[in-house]
Amino acid sequence: MTLLYEGKAKKIHATDTEGILRVEYKDEVTAGNGAKKDYIEGKGRLNNLITSKLFNSLKQQGLESHFIEQISETEQLVQSVDIIPLEVVVRNIAAGSITKRLGFDKGHSFEQPLVEFFYKNDKLNDPLITDDHVKLLHIANDDEISTLKAAALKINEALVSIMDQVDLRLVDFKIEFGKTTKGDIILADEISPDTCRIWDKHSDVNFDKDVYREDRGSIIDTYQTFLNKLEAL
Ligand code: TMP
Repeated sequence: MTLLYEGKAKKIHATDTEGILRVEYKDEVTAGNGAKKDYIEGKGRLNNLITSKLFNSLKQQGLESHFIEQISETEQLVQSVDIIPLEVVVRNIAAGSITKRLGFDKGHSFEQPLVEFFYKNDKLNDPLITDDHVKLLHIANDDEISTLKAAALKINEALVSIMDQVDLRLVDFKIEFGKTTKGDIILADEISPDTCRIWDKHSDVNFDKDVYREDRGSIIDTYQTFLNKLEAL
């Protein structure tokens, strides 16, 4: 089947059914907008299994996404949507870029979850943008911005609760949304340790791509341990 798009971590293929795509998770990992890059066997499988598990859990809580079903160890079927070029980041605890940008100490708990928009544009290095920039760039109007923020906060609540049940803290995560042919905005892309920060509740162990970004060990062991925890749900 036709390869429609290849990104850093996934390939998107057409299927025989209009409106349905096949996502193949790749054994590649990158950090710093591709500055650091490695082939890591088994990583695609783990992100596919974890994303499938999390999208299914969200569905059980009434939160729809583009996800239809997992069809193999490394593939899933999804609804075709037009991806909105925003990385929507929700932060519960300070880590990563916000510690450098605004000086928060790593580990500082925010009084309320913070939603940030980053413009998905590799050439510009995915800059942080304001609501007014989102409108100027004709990415979304006021109503759509409100929909994106409300949906991101609901997804955060659901994910925090899922992680809490397995003794984990959801520090932050990045999600992407797409528009259906009807114009509805739905959750798309993936939710995996590549796109989240997840910390153990009782220790300083973490289960996310920071292990790779900071050269602190095997991401296969890290992601597998995270998946094992989710499977206990
Ligand atoms: P940041 O602290 O680097 O801004 O990242 C915030 C969250 O977003 C973190 O969980 C990692 C995730 N993220 C991505 O999934 N893709 C990206 O390109 C970036 C920059 C962050």
